[in-house]
Amino acid sequence: MDLTTNYLGLRLKNPLVAGASPVSRDIGMVRQLEDSGIAAVVVHSVFQEQIEHEAMRADHFDEFGAESHAEAITYTPRSTASAYGPDQYVEHVRRIKEAVDIPVLASLNGTTTGGWTTIARSLQDAGADGLELNVYQLATEQYQSAEDVENQYIDILEAVRESVNIPVALKLSPYFSSLSHFATRLDRAGVDGLVLFNRFYQPDIDLDNLDVVPNLTLSAPHEMRLPLRWIAILDPIVEASLAATTGIYTWSDVLKLLMVGADVTMLCATVLRNGPNAVVEILTGMQSWMEEHEYESVHQMQGSMNHRTCAAPAAFERANYIEALQEFS
Ligand SMILES: Cc1cc2nc3c(=O)[nH]c(=O)nc-3n(C[C@H](O)[C@H](O)[C@H](O)COP(=O)(O)O)c2cc1C
Repeated sequence: MDLTTNYLGLRLKNPLVAGASPVSRDIGMVRQLEDSGIAAVVVHSVFQEQIEHEAMRADHFDEFGAESHAEAITYTPRSTASAYGPDQYVEHVRRIKEAVDIPVLASLNGTTTGGWTTIARSLQDAGADGLELNVYQLATEQYQSAEDVENQYIDILEAVRESVNIPVALKLSPYFSSLSHFATRLDRAGVDGLVLFNRFYQPDIDLDNLDVVPNLTLSAPHEMRLPLRWIAILDPIVEASLAATTGIYTWSDVLKLLMVGADVTMLCATVLRNGPNAVVEILTGMQSWMEEHEYESVHQMQGSMNHRTCAAPAAFERANYIEALQEFS
């Protein structure tokens, strides 16, 4: 059975990729993921703030990730982020590359153009097979239009693309007013892949201390339906590779996402909760389903159930919405 897929021009042995997470801080864990069958790994992000101010607050991000879920603690190494300046990050990517045979993608996380994007070149020199750009930003500026926000993404993409010749993917939020239009713009600007979607971590209010507190809750399985819908819509209209991320826990999630057109599926929460064995279980389940249903390759199912066959996608989505409301009892 042929499980290979193509992502960002890289040939992967199967469509399972370890998404950016603190798991990649531990090179031993990355090796274990490779042994379990993962086809590529995205290293946790280096942040613009880290690069611009060296020893900044990035430790804060995975500290609360590690502590907020009992299940996450086992597989989430204690934070060493404060020890991670940009040089250490580049060195870490180099060491991961030396330790494994699978493709390694580095992750750049920032919101504006500027000197910080020059790290892209160092990551390429360190052996990164590709870059994932994560523009994690809430558009809170009252006078910044939707077009201004989109232009910011394009500017960052172009700045990074100018300094490297490895493929560059962009991790997007689902909150664009016209995602199909924006994805097409990114496609034309030469993005190699879209990673759908970034999860926004909604803060909470601590009533005892009257304080706003960060709160990282791991995704729930039903959340994979958001990338499922959008990959079904975008696959027929963009050239870029499509990666699904959020709420992917089981082999059936992976098969559904492939059917709507995903090139790869990224695993994060399930690896944090269940460790590398999650990969083994998904691969085994996928293969037995494919065997039973006489699929010979992943390629055969990719995009077999998406909007390509739908003449009026907006009407189709609206009809489904009305039906869902009316059939509820
Ligand atoms: C503890 C934790 C740390 C993460 N760190 C990063 C990161 O450094 N860069 C990034 O782009 N995404 C990061 N993510 C987001 C994941 O890559 C992924 O997109 C998101 O968790 C949704 O996938 P999931 O439902 O499988 O967890 C992180 C997620 C978690 C839970």
